[in-house]
Amino acid sequence: MRLEVLPISFALSLFFSVDHTLAAPASHGQPSSRGLHVPILRRARVERNDTEWGNWAKQQKQFLEGKYGRSPSATKRSSGYNLMVNQNIDSSYFGSIAIGTPPVAYNVILDTGSSDLWIANSDCTEGCSGLETFHSSSSSTFTNVTGSFSITYGSGQASGGLARDVVQMAGFQVNNQVFGLCDVVSGGLLNAPVSGLMGLAWKSLSTSGVTPFWQSLYEGNVWDESVMAFYLTRFQNVTDAQDQEPGGVFTMGTTNSSLYTGQIDYQDVPSDAVTYWTLPLTNLTVNSNSVTLPSGSSSYAAIDTGTTLIGGPTAQVSALYAQIPGSAAETGQFQGYYNYPCSTSVNIALSFGGQSWSISPTDFKLTELESGRCLGAIFEFQGSNSGGPAWIIGDTFLKNVYSVFRAKPPSVGFAALAANAESSVTAAGVPTATIGSVSASVTGSGRTHENAASPNSALAWSHVALLICALGTSLLYLF
Ligand SMILES: *[C@@H]1O[C@H](CO)[C@@H](O)[C@H](O)[C@H]1NC(C)=O
Ligand SMILES: *[C@@H]1O[C@H](CO)[C@@H](O)[C@H](O)[C@H]1NC(C)=O
Ligand SMILES: *[C@@H]1O[C@H](CO)[C@@H](O)[C@H](O)[C@H]1NC(C)=O
Ligand SMILES: *[C@@H]1O[C@H](CO)[C@@H](O)[C@H](O)[C@H]1NC(C)=O
Ligand SMILES: *[C@@H]1O[C@H](CO)[C@@H](O)[C@H](O)[C@H]1NC(C)=O
Repeated sequence: MRLEVLPISFALSLFFSVDHTLAAPASHGQPSSRGLHVPILRRARVERNDTEWGNWAKQQKQFLEGKYGRSPSATKRSSGYNLMVNQNIDSSYFGSIAIGTPPVAYNVILDTGSSDLWIANSDCTEGCSGLETFHSSSSSTFTNVTGSFSITYGSGQASGGLARDVVQMAGFQVNNQVFGLCDVVSGGLLNAPVSGLMGLAWKSLSTSGVTPFWQSLYEGNVWDESVMAFYLTRFQNVTDAQDQEPGGVFTMGTTNSSLYTGQIDYQDVPSDAVTYWTLPLTNLTVNSNSVTLPSGSSSYAAIDTGTTLIGGPTAQVSALYAQIPGSAAETGQFQGYYNYPCSTSVNIALSFGGQSWSISPTDFKLTELESGRCLGAIFEFQGSNSGGPAWIIGDTFLKNVYSVFRAKPPSVGFAALAANAESSVTAAGVPTATIGSVSASVTGSGRTHENAASPNSALAWSHVALLICALGTSLLYLF
């Protein structure tokens, strides 16, 4: 079942923190010292004391390093944020990026469960109707990259070619980001006004072999702190919720201390699993009763903002529902899901080696089916069969915490939400448009397999088709 296409003339939104503007190094237009006739300029004589000469010398050095892109330290460290949109009642969360010169804004799903950036191309023939698409001829910095691009998610597939251009987000810029330009997108993967997807997991998971946007920024040392953080809003069970609502706040280079309280409880990503943002799921309770979980890699969970619900291994998911009196496995279209009496308030808590975090009964209760039976938001999923994580921990959980994705050491942290997080975010309404200035930029690294004929041979677990069910007006995604 698909949503009807909405007549959305949604203003593209791009929120950048305006910090210090660092002009792109090459834009100074300084003549090179070699091979060019340098006009002689007469200047007033400058009197400098030692301190001033010291500063001047340092600036000259930084300028040259910046111009030739050799020194990350020449680039300012900073942080930035992007206000997101909650689409189709907590089904997906998108933010905005800008691509090209001059920059053009696009809405993209922010997905910590994959590592590729791609956008619908202007020649898109399938699955792009009503979307803002990329027009390469409008960007003076666009370069075509040899090779094809193809990625499959639980919810569908996108394929096309590869491109390189300037990409900006939240005040950061990567000058030569390689990304997918898709001309075939499976139905339902993109819903206007979303034009593509920004993968925020590690490069090792990238199907195109490209360093992800966030990882170039982290490796370029331009972040104040090596973190990205999310607060995701909840519109489940909100009467009159619209298809687009304020989605929360995404930050890079810092956390937003007005959105959480207490300490951030960081847990390390196991060293053999720095692909997704992986954490071992160590404890799971249902109304205070424990479900027995395996250890080691069978406990690995991907913390995934791009997935709507929670998927887990059949044995543990059925053990979980066995703790809810009157629950029953679903069949047919809902195969893999379970229902339970709506009168039961189900409180599930998860721990990833540290503190235990609750999922509110509201988030667990996906929808009322019929005659007092409710559908649970945790379903059976055989991801580990294809070498992927056993669990996918999506927005059903992430709406309940402030989540922090830390690059060094690789770890994911959770903190309790501030009491006024929701009101402070929703008060501002659905975010609307601006393309802000850039506070820090890096020169990204190229593809690992720049000349590889087929970059899409390494398939991630998510290439397994999964049951996607469309319930009422809400579409559920597994990215
Ligand atoms: C150099 O000049 C600056 C003002 O431009 C002044 O603040 C500083 O004290 C001077 N330093 C020395 C060593 O004279
Ligand atoms: C990139 O080059 C390929 C091969 O020449 C061409 O088919 C494709 O249309 C180009 N893409 C863009 C966006 O220009
Ligand atoms: C998780 O389970 C272990 C073993 O059952 C137990 O020792 C520990 O206290 C539990 N941790 C939490 C946070 O519940
Ligand atoms: C849904 O919202 C209503 C009204 O705010 C509230 O009374 C009810 O408990 C909520 N239901 C769930 C399952 O959270
Ligand atoms: C922090 O979140 C608030 C919403 O409560 C938002 O208004 C503010 O702009 C955010 N600031 C940063 C730096 O992320």
